[in-house]
Amino acid sequence: MPPISLTDKERAMMLGMATAALQHAYAPYSKFRVGATVITDDGHLYTGSNVENASYGLTMCAERAAIFNAVHQVQGKLKLKGIAVVTENDVPCPPCGACRQVIAEFGANTAVVFRGQTDYMEMNIADMLPETFRLT
Ligand code: THU
Repeated sequence: MPPISLTDKERAMMLGMATAALQHAYAPYSKFRVGATVITDDGHLYTGSNVENASYGLTMCAERAAIFNAVHQVQGKLKLKGIAVVTENDVPCPPCGACRQVIAEFGANTAVVFRGQTDYMEMNIADMLPETFRLT
């Protein structure tokens, strides 16, 4: 299924803001800095970066940081049109499984933009997380 399509301008804006956001990452353990931007159905943009902890399992990914930031700032339920993920030095970074589940919570057909092995890719979250667990 094709994702909710992003315009070239939206995609460029999201990637630019995610690149700026990764400068705020707290990644002293992995040294793997990640930035993410979400765009809502009505075109608002929110960013996040990864935040690590000495107790490694408490680490928060950039994608979830950006989504939780958006949840707290939108009126009503967040409706995700897209999310873009950027790393330093163009290292491939498809969202992890936990982040896929959280993305799906806020949009069944969210466009996910991430660096693949050779270039940026854009996929529908429904294709990245088939048989999504839902309670509603
Ligand atoms: N990380 C993200 O922020 N997003 C991903 O999709 C994958 C991994 C972070 C978590 C951790 O701080 C670092 O990258 C290395 O795993």
